[in-house]
Amino acid sequence: MLGTLYGIGVGPGDPDLLTLKAVKVLKRVAHVFAAASSKNDYSVALDIVREHLLPDTPVDHLAFPMTFNSDSLEHAWNANCEKVVEILRLGKNVAFLTIGDPLTFSTFIYLLRKIRERLPGVTISIVPGVTSFHAAAACAGLPLGEGDEVITVIPGAKGVDRLKEVAAYSDNVVLMKTYKQFPRILHEIEEAGLKDRCCFISRCGLDGEIVECDFEKLSQIERPNYLSLIILKKRGLEP
Ligand SMILES: C[S@@+](CC[C@H](N)C(=O)[O-])C[C@H]1O[C@@H](n2cnc3c(N)ncnc32)[C@H](O)[C@@H]1O
Repeated sequence: MLGTLYGIGVGPGDPDLLTLKAVKVLKRVAHVFAAASSKNDYSVALDIVREHLLPDTPVDHLAFPMTFNSDSLEHAWNANCEKVVEILRLGKNVAFLTIGDPLTFSTFIYLLRKIRERLPGVTISIVPGVTSFHAAAACAGLPLGEGDEVITVIPGAKGVDRLKEVAAYSDNVVLMKTYKQFPRILHEIEEAGLKDRCCFISRCGLDGEIVECDFEKLSQIERPNYLSLIILKKRGLEP
């Protein structure tokens, strides 16, 4: 008898944005996994849920490389998958924690794919989470979409190449993962004529939260925190 794998979205930072369902599941599972960068062992997702875990619940970090190199990713995720499979094979229920929502630019997606391949009959249950950009929009008081408006969400690192193309058909654009190429992203925003229509939100709901819509101030930031995104509103930032 295999255990169940729960993919749990823990929201973007504020522990009050954890869903009741996530809390209920966390109290039931026998083992918790959280992703961590291979460079450090720190998991924001784990910090968010820590107070809800039973004191003796084992917690393991799954290291994954922050890279686009498909061989390194494949290798890391095969190893991570085996650790989860081992516990599921003991018949224990497992939770994998992920920031925001588990099916939105999340490490859970790699795990889901791998586990489905390795254990085709396993039960997988996914608990959605409040996404970073929904929380960020609330934090900045910016409507993400209304009426006929089109909303597009793009990953900043590579997606910024397509900003002009995307902005041509979208009323509102969310740029995620802005930390890597921040100066380039700002350049593209300026080129697209949107510099007075963008708002930067960093560490929403966490210590060091920043909401900054002044482009000149943003230009002074070299490399923002990993947990940062930009909302662009073509019709302007006024509600
Ligand atoms: C790997 S993605 C995770 C997305 C997440 N699954 C979601 O549903 O929002 C990481 C990116 O999410 C965004 N992010 C996550 N938490 C955030 C926060 N508290 N404040 C601002 N941006 C955040 C940042 O753009 C960050 O680089």
